[in-house]
Amino acid sequence: MKILVTGGSGYIGSHTCLELLKMNYEVAVIDNLSNSKKTSLKRVEKITKNKIDFFKVDLLDLKKLNHVFDKFTPDAVIHFAGKKAVGESVIKPIEYYKNNLGGTINLIEVMKNHNIKKLIFSSSCTVYGLPNKVPIKEDFPVSAVNPYGRTKLFIEFLLQDVSQSDPNWNIIVLRYFNPVGADQSGIIGEDPNGIPNNLFPYITQVAVGKLPILSIYGNDYPTPDGTCIRDYIHVSDLAFGHVKAIDKLRKSSGTNTYNLGTGKGYSVLEVLSTFEKVTGKNIPHRFVKRREGDVSASYSDTTKARRELGWKANKNLEDMCKDAWHFQSLNPRGYN
Ligand code: WQD
Repeated sequence: MKILVTGGSGYIGSHTCLELLKMNYEVAVIDNLSNSKKTSLKRVEKITKNKIDFFKVDLLDLKKLNHVFDKFTPDAVIHFAGKKAVGESVIKPIEYYKNNLGGTINLIEVMKNHNIKKLIFSSSCTVYGLPNKVPIKEDFPVSAVNPYGRTKLFIEFLLQDVSQSDPNWNIIVLRYFNPVGADQSGIIGEDPNGIPNNLFPYITQVAVGKLPILSIYGNDYPTPDGTCIRDYIHVSDLAFGHVKAIDKLRKSSGTNTYNLGTGKGYSVLEVLSTFEKVTGKNIPHRFVKRREGDVSASYSDTTKARRELGWKANKNLEDMCKDAWHFQSLNPRGYN
């Protein structure tokens, strides 16, 4: 089976390509390299001793996108490509709508022209907005509290409409909780541009000496230790969830949506103490004011993915911390 992965040189994309190649799928990647490096794919090829066809193309370039499908006609597409920085989306909303929505519309059009109607979409728990209870189930109300989240939500609606317009479309929407960690090889991992927005890469950059201190955004939340709770999931478990979703695509129809999380929540301080215990590194930290838009607790109900995809996360928080540190310690400056 041939799989085209958009945004495949990114953090989750590259880990998914790794798992696909391990399962002997034929993989091609299309990426504009605006927020990732081709190095990640070279390293995936090194780990698997397999080849990845790479196309440096922007999804907004309809002509070139069409040409990619002429050259590599996949059986299914996994769609990761998109801008994903919450804070940036508030400052540049039009760029986010144009890139994320426009790119997806082009992709759907080209897939239709080539009669390819199997699609897995990379969505996010951010579509649940500020959930009023946990654990979060797929049928909870959706809303979005920032332009980035709205682009994910609008794309989900768009895909539902596409699926309703033509029953031959077979779509799976995967709502990720908090992907963290790195492949156990330490050869690929998370390599954010500039100062990390997210907790894990910030901690590993403090641990490796790239950043001086971790600022914890608020310790006055209604949680046991006052810091926010999140459902952190090992990126390799998340990546394998895509392999199981492809299996499901062979048998399903219409549009199906699944949470990809562990079903367990950990606070910022729990992450910090686990990281220090597992790595032996001391992480200087201070408490600062809350970050706009943060919800006190978010973690998934994973029943549906377990029942319908036959998938569940296996790695625990210690694995996530160990593997995140393993990559960062071997790659103090990421892929540079
Ligand atoms: C986790 C916790 C912060 C950094 C984001 C996106 C979401 C999804 C997953 C794409 C929070 C705290 C963080 C720091 C801190 N991505 N924190 N100091 O916000 O849950 O989700 O990534 O789909 O859309 O919003 O993840 O890692 O940014 O924050 O105290 O320097 O760590 O307040 O409680 P988040 P995060």
